[in-house]
Amino acid sequence: MTEQSIQTWNADLYDNQLGFVAEYGKDVVGLLNPKPGERILDLGCGTGDLTKELADLGADPFGIDLSYAMIEKAKEKYPELAFSVENAETFRTAEPFDAVFSNAALHWMKHPDLAAETIRLALRPGGRFAAEFGGKGNVETIIHGMQTVLARYGIDAAERNPWYFPSIGEYSSLLERHGFRVQFALHFHRPTPLRDGERGLSHWLTSFGDDFFPGLSAGEKEEAFSRIEDELRPLLFRDGVWVADYWRIRVLAVKA
Ligand code: BEZ
Repeated sequence: MTEQSIQTWNADLYDNQLGFVAEYGKDVVGLLNPKPGERILDLGCGTGDLTKELADLGADPFGIDLSYAMIEKAKEKYPELAFSVENAETFRTAEPFDAVFSNAALHWMKHPDLAAETIRLALRPGGRFAAEFGGKGNVETIIHGMQTVLARYGIDAAERNPWYFPSIGEYSSLLERHGFRVQFALHFHRPTPLRDGERGLSHWLTSFGDDFFPGLSAGEKEEAFSRIEDELRPLLFRDGVWVADYWRIRVLAVKA
């Protein structure tokens, strides 16, 4: 894994082509079961669609994200809600939250112990933590395809991998070490169709794959994307749709 992801976030591409991220996240909102008036920290809120969902259920959410582009877009879309650019590994609050919510963000955090400590410190005793993110095996086929192609450019994709995809045992144990009681944990396969037909995989690589293509010119990158598509087509392209091999961890824990 690299030390710090160099991903540049494009909030418009994220909203237009990767809307499924927030759609699937609604299940995690259900797991959290927010109550009216609860103060909820939305950790890695992206462009704020699920922060808005929490607010619509009567909660009082606060969305944080490391990306200025995402927070700017979130504020533009939902000016009535509170958002801030913050690093989830170091964020601290003087006023504890009733719950912490996180969708599709924890796999970007290179120091899961620091993120768990942030979550523990942010919660009042008895506060809930509900999250979903990439689990062991997530996008393994895509990573393998990138690895094969990037070796031809002298790039070791394993070394560039910015993501944290733990097993369910590893993540539950981590939460327990940080003073949580894990009430529910699930590791499940969710093949995920990408929007925009033939262009779905290249949108995904553009949105999430910056770390793997350091120093390639725009032309080389385009060529690499096309070779990755050739490599993965027999495995992930079905009936005109790219289907990403997602594995998720979904977890609900309580601060003991
Ligand atoms: C995911 O949501 O599983 C994911 C998103 C971007 C990169 C890797 C994984």
